[in-house]
Amino acid sequence: MSKKQENKIGLDFKTDWAYAPAPEDTKHITLQKQYDLFIDGKFVKPNSKKYFDTINPATEQKIAEVAEADEKDVDKAVKAARKAFEKWSKISAKERGKYIYRIARLMQERAREFAVIETMNGGKCIRESRDIDVPLAANHFFYNAGWADKLEYAFPNRNPQPLGVAGQIIPWNFPLLMAAWKIAPALAAGNTVVLKPAETTSLTALKLAELFRDSGLPDGVVNIITGAGKTGAAMVNHPDINKIAFTGSTDVGKMIQKSIAGTDKKLTLELGGKAANIIFEDAPIDQAVEGVINGIFFNQGHVCCAGSRLFIQESVADIVIRKLKDRMESLIVGDPMDKNTDIGAINSKEQLLKIQEYIKIGKNEGADFYQSSCAIPSKGYYCRPTLFLNASQSHRIVQEEIFGPVLTIQTFRTIEEVIEKANNIAYGLSAGIWTDKGSKIFNISSKMRAGVVWANTYNKFDPASPFGGYKESGFGREGGLHGLMPYLKF
Ligand code: NAI
Ligand code: MG
Repeated sequence: MSKKQENKIGLDFKTDWAYAPAPEDTKHITLQKQYDLFIDGKFVKPNSKKYFDTINPATEQKIAEVAEADEKDVDKAVKAARKAFEKWSKISAKERGKYIYRIARLMQERAREFAVIETMNGGKCIRESRDIDVPLAANHFFYNAGWADKLEYAFPNRNPQPLGVAGQIIPWNFPLLMAAWKIAPALAAGNTVVLKPAETTSLTALKLAELFRDSGLPDGVVNIITGAGKTGAAMVNHPDINKIAFTGSTDVGKMIQKSIAGTDKKLTLELGGKAANIIFEDAPIDQAVEGVINGIFFNQGHVCCAGSRLFIQESVADIVIRKLKDRMESLIVGDPMDKNTDIGAINSKEQLLKIQEYIKIGKNEGADFYQSSCAIPSKGYYCRPTLFLNASQSHRIVQEEIFGPVLTIQTFRTIEEVIEKANNIAYGLSAGIWTDKGSKIFNISSKMRAGVVWANTYNKFDPASPFGGYKESGFGREGGLHGLMPYLKF
């Protein structure tokens, strides 16, 4: 790997299982003009006959039309999943595992297609789709395939049983990866699935549907229906769904929780975040700066566990900020299909407007605004990497999730002060600590009200480690053994 490549965001994610062909050329990727719903093993037209446009946020050009599922389609998908459950839950666990392994391998074989479509539809850099999203998604299938016939050992003397039909609603920031996070454990545990991708990024989930079909997975075991919030709500309210798994905004998470109250549906929620990334004076400064860059600018900052609040110990604040600004100047914002790009396109116009609104709010609140001076394309949705220095705890830009490449910076003197500030927030998904001292890491991580705490690294993901939040970041865990539990009854 050349020096130049090493110097990129996301290097941390490079894993030995990465299957990484060069997907930067799109010549061999075939996209349909129109995409239907995937129900009972077949692509079918939506009841309403309505389709909506899906675009490439990097160019604002229409890519294809996607079916809008209404209540009748949701019902059809749930019925297919119910019928399939009768068989799927009864075949031997070893057979179930084989299907899931096959899905994982097919995903590796088609990694190039998945990566290119993910980047075209969602705006994330091809380097990230190729080296992180796709291999990690395949690895979630591999990992969970291994559990399928070992649940009795994983949960000894507890007789684990599947729940039934799982309704899964996912967001647009990691479309394929979130589908894998949700589908793989559900299948390994013996459930069947109806999954709805986010309306701006349906295409890799529909590609996944093709892969399920080609893998020989029995009809109806996974159904993919597309549409926006109304379709999602129809799923949540369907009486024959046993479990809802949701990743998205805290507002919608709360609505879902209200609408299933009083039913016996199980629920897991992965919601927003506003993580503290804390640099102590004894930290390896260059490594910490790199971690901060990765923490906030990876995936354009559309990351629920993004390190969006930086806390720097006062004695090293000047040097950290200087190095951070220098490093920001080196980041390339632009065409996500170019493998040299560091920050791709903002996922949608709506999200860009939201980020711009927060930038305005931050300026009005009196924090010091700083943006890198890089060029950005004239067409498409882009945002330069942004800092707000001297932010205060009460600022909205510090308290609310922006979900873009915008970092707030606060300084601190003592450990007690930074723990207090880091936890004084509605969210509790993740945190980062940068220090040379192991004892400090143990002390502080045990006091962080956050589901994941990274030490001297950031945004490290592995299918074997559980992920999830406290407080308004949701409940339930995904990944690892903990991630199987919400799909089982004991
Ligand atoms: P959203 O929560 O509205 O969308 C997430 C998913 O929920 C999509 O599939 C959407 O179609 C579905 N959905 C929307 N309304 C629904 C309803 N009433 N019932 C069932 N499903 C519904 O998020 P949105 O509007 O795309 O983004 C708004 C903000 O939410 C972002 O700016 C960001 O701050 C946050 N967000 C957080 C995510 C995370 O991973 N924690 C992911 C996406 C958004
Ligand atoms: Mg919404």
